[in-house]
Amino acid sequence: MAQSILVTGGAGYIGSHACKALARAGYQPIAYDNLSRGHREAVRWGPLVEGDIADSSRLGAAIEQYQIAAIMHFAAYAYVGESVSDPALYYCNNLAGTLAMLETARQTEVRHIVFSSTCATYGTPEIVPIRETAPQCPVNPYGETKLAIERALHWYGEAYGLRWVSLRYFNAAGADQEGEIGEDHDPETHLVPLVLQAALGQRPAIEVYGTDYPTPDGTAIRDYIHVDDLADAHLRALERLLAKGEPVALNLGTGIGHSVREVIATAERVCGCKIPVQDAPRRSGDPAALVADPSLAAELLDWRAQYSSLEMIIHTAFAWHARQRMRALNLNSAP
Ligand SMILES: NC(=O)c1ccc[n+]([C@@H]2O[C@H](COP(=O)([O-])OP(=O)(O)OC[C@H]3O[C@@H](n4cnc5c(N)ncnc54)[C@H](O)[C@@H]3O)[C@@H](O)[C@H]2O)c1
Repeated sequence: MAQSILVTGGAGYIGSHACKALARAGYQPIAYDNLSRGHREAVRWGPLVEGDIADSSRLGAAIEQYQIAAIMHFAAYAYVGESVSDPALYYCNNLAGTLAMLETARQTEVRHIVFSSTCATYGTPEIVPIRETAPQCPVNPYGETKLAIERALHWYGEAYGLRWVSLRYFNAAGADQEGEIGEDHDPETHLVPLVLQAALGQRPAIEVYGTDYPTPDGTAIRDYIHVDDLADAHLRALERLLAKGEPVALNLGTGIGHSVREVIATAERVCGCKIPVQDAPRRSGDPAALVADPSLAAELLDWRAQYSSLEMIIHTAFAWHARQRMRALNLNSAP
């Protein structure tokens, strides 16, 4: 019988892609999501249990019902700016919610967790590319709550035998290569979908925050990783845990940085149109460059980014956004 994996946040962007990858690899994904920021229609490869990670009776019942072998824990709020203006939201949902979830996992004897961490736990790095051993000094509540969970996982492992892998993603981007699911955040804050919205005329221009960074073209550099590469890394992390591999924290990125202007230029080529640009001042707390050293994930998971060229990321994301736009226009024009 297929092993059942509970995917918290399975109706969200990265969680839904992980569900597809799990189903394809022969697991049964059980999406567990309160739909606060996810989409019911993104859950296609297994059942959806509608519930909050902090609701121990609902979560415990789902774990018992489906005989869950492991949890992939994506459920969280993930807007850096919102975490600064409303830290309570992040401490309550991301940290307190996850601690409640870990308690339910402990009581129901689920011992394997793959956790969605982030490069935001590093703050402003002194050395780029960033290795896992770099100091973790977050500069916002979002990164703080993720780091606190990483530390809790460590101590729960020591004391209770919990086995975990923390995956520190850099900038997730792109969409399912078959066009079935994609990125749909509201409000959208990520560069690639914002650039594509400008290309599709859904926003007047793309704002470039900071043109005086010490980078070749003056704009900030980030490491963009395709969501299908993230999903693949989750599968490999899960298999490591089920094979009794040791807990570990790993960077997930390509090791190659791209500037904001490079992203826009690539999008213009892929979309075949000029994208209006509006230069704006830097945002506080935005480092000049964030690029992963992904060599530990390569060594321990035998994982390498395969779909993360900027062209592939933008091509898959554009196909998804254009299709969503057509669907919305058709719905609006239906009699
Ligand atoms: N998108 C990125 O670039 C990125 C980078 C680094 C880390 N991450 C992390 O990856 C994870 C997934 O990110 P995403 O972009 O897919 O976000 P998302 O908002 O698309 O998905 C998160 C899902 O979690 C659900 N959720 C939130 N709180 C919940 C709760 N209390 N109980 C049950 N469900 C809840 C939401 O409804 C949503 O479906 C998050 O933990 C995020 O912090 C994302």
